[in-house]
Amino acid sequence: MNRRQFLASSAAMGLLPRSAASASPTYRLRAEDVTGQILPLGDGATRMLGFNGSMPGPELRVRQGERVRVDVENGLDEGTAVHWHGIRLENSMDGVPALTQTIIEPGDTKTYSFVPPDAGTFWYHSHYISHEQVARGLMGPLIIEDDEPIDVDHDITAILSDWRMERDGTLIEEYTDRHSVAHAGLLGTFARAFFSRGEVKAGDRIRLRLINAATNRIFPVVVSGASGRIVALDGISLSEPRDFEQIMMAPAQRVDLILDVAADVKLDMMSRQGPYELGTIAASGKNGLRKATPIAALPAHAIPVPSNPDRHLTLHMMGGAMGGRHGGANIWAFNDISDLQSDPFAYFRKGETARITLVNDTSFPHGIHLHGHHFYEVGADGSIGDLRDTTLVNARENRDILCTFDNPGKWMLHCHMLSHAFGGMRTWVEVT
Ligand code: C2O
Ligand code: CU
Repeated sequence: MNRRQFLASSAAMGLLPRSAASASPTYRLRAEDVTGQILPLGDGATRMLGFNGSMPGPELRVRQGERVRVDVENGLDEGTAVHWHGIRLENSMDGVPALTQTIIEPGDTKTYSFVPPDAGTFWYHSHYISHEQVARGLMGPLIIEDDEPIDVDHDITAILSDWRMERDGTLIEEYTDRHSVAHAGLLGTFARAFFSRGEVKAGDRIRLRLINAATNRIFPVVVSGASGRIVALDGISLSEPRDFEQIMMAPAQRVDLILDVAADVKLDMMSRQGPYELGTIAASGKNGLRKATPIAALPAHAIPVPSNPDRHLTLHMMGGAMGGRHGGANIWAFNDISDLQSDPFAYFRKGETARITLVNDTSFPHGIHLHGHHFYEVGADGSIGDLRDTTLVNARENRDILCTFDNPGKWMLHCHMLSHAFGGMRTWVEVT
């Protein structure tokens, strides 16, 4: 019996005092104007949005399988809503205006409450005019803790993002600029990583949780000063830790690394102009106590492979610059349809399995995200790949995904390049 099952069963038998059984945390997040320090200190602060005075918002930590409650207070002068990205939660808590809730009006508070089934790295972000509100800073990390602690010296979160700014740190608010919407989306002029901890020792073993919180930028990340393996993708553990050189991260994707620190741990974004430094965790001093052991897999997940899918569907990404014709009303479309319509892309009976062929008929990459579920990527050779909640499909490429639609409700399916979602590349599915 693990700790969670023990708590559940002993609580049910009334063996524990109430305080111990109701260990679920309550958080309060207030969306508000903040002054962020994105540029190096001295180079100007940025007036933007955040939660509880900070951008990124505070790191929320919750135990796997335990109910968390988050009171979201809207201190903005416009509506908002918060989505818990990647959590397989109950539909009414998904945070999507028009599908699962009404917006939280200025001055109002909405209580979200859910039980996260998977331990891993997730994040939360605004899902209301998200191409603007996420770009302005309404996002933060959501960590679902394992039952058993992982054997590392430090557990560090790194939020990667980019911002479109003047040299003095003022945001350039071109969120609806049609040229960027029709191309790769609004990209920042400055990128960096925010670490939850800035210092380690040489010899430490760390878990580094990378979250791409950028609205449109794909980060090709290279790590130096430490070596190790990838242990989880999009919050789901890999059965075998994996070697890496360059890590490709689409918007909203997460990658968990376990690293043995040798020197300062530096993250660089690779670009045609060469490496661009996102940030560094300084190594000072030496941890002589840790013995070299192989990096073990994280505890296994229990999401079965839908090997004989009930249905086969095709989702065509269409539109954009150099994209040819499509019948959707906006710049981007799925299957000739732009934006959320009253009919979903598909209805599924609860438990139904499907293979969906994602066809990228456009000149740009797209990171396709399904709410409320994880799905398996299928390799070009038909092999079963990784479980993800967001999959990167490059220009003029196809990818099959396999999904068990076991979570009832109305779930968005959209490009997580948020400029593209704004430009029409979004639809939904309904599971009943
Ligand atoms: Cu991370 Cu529909 O969102
Ligand atoms: Cu896209």
